[in-house]
Amino acid sequence: MTSRATQNLATFTLHDGGGVPLVLLHGFPLDHRMWVTCAEHLPPGVRAIGVDLPGAGHSDLDGYPPSIEHIADAVYRTMIEAGEGNAVVVGHSMGGYVALALAERHPGFVAGLALVDTKSTADTEEARAKRLRIAAAVDESQTVDAVLGMPANLVGATSTEQRRGLFPLLDSWIRAQSPAGVAWSQRAMAARPDRTAVLERLDAPVAVVVGAEDTITPLAEAEHMVQAAGSPSGPAMGDAALTVVPGAGHMAVVEDPQAVAAALGLLHTHVVAHH
Ligand code: MLT
Repeated sequence: MTSRATQNLATFTLHDGGGVPLVLLHGFPLDHRMWVTCAEHLPPGVRAIGVDLPGAGHSDLDGYPPSIEHIADAVYRTMIEAGEGNAVVVGHSMGGYVALALAERHPGFVAGLALVDTKSTADTEEARAKRLRIAAAVDESQTVDAVLGMPANLVGATSTEQRRGLFPLLDSWIRAQSPAGVAWSQRAMAARPDRTAVLERLDAPVAVVVGAEDTITPLAEAEHMVQAAGSPSGPAMGDAALTVVPGAGHMAVVEDPQAVAAALGLLHTHVVAHH
């Protein structure tokens, strides 16, 4: 069943072009701005639309209980109402959880799927309990203080040494989020199921991208998704391709935007050929 979003999500054209677009879904606790530089590095003619997920950036919460499925339906409805019949859906981390729910609920919309520093497995009980504790702390303080320490884990060891400018940037993005949105998103992520089987069923090209230094959704999670989607076939790209970005962590999209853009460009080419 498709849940009803009472309003459409905020969208941003981040790269001009024609044909099937890339729809870029951000991670937590961020918004579409994490994609801006990466989108600038896309090959000419590849259209990219950034979305602010409910409660993030310019998109409000609409009173619906926390649910990744509801986010997926809101993205779908927003795109359909904007006249986009299908898209290459690209999800970073929490955006990847949404992308998998979108592929499960609206498979005809997904012409291709890119999963960037994310995973298809559910949370452990421990991780779930931690999310609920953070959500409660954010509610109680009415600030995002409980997630301000995240950048130290989000970027990899190389960026911690060599890309210090990412810290104030990530910090400014996180501070701009609403406490209500942060708490809602944590509860939505805590409730999500394992969606590995979605990859086994999906009839569309898949690209999996992971920073070699990602400690939040590490390489083993990426390999698990590639295996589910099909046999890894390297640069020629069969059912699923794996790109490991050296010198980058969980935020490969901002740590090495060119490398991620190259992988997304390849997937887009493959989707166009597949059609
Ligand atoms: C994200 O980057 O979206 C989060 O770290 C994902 C998560 O908390 O599972």
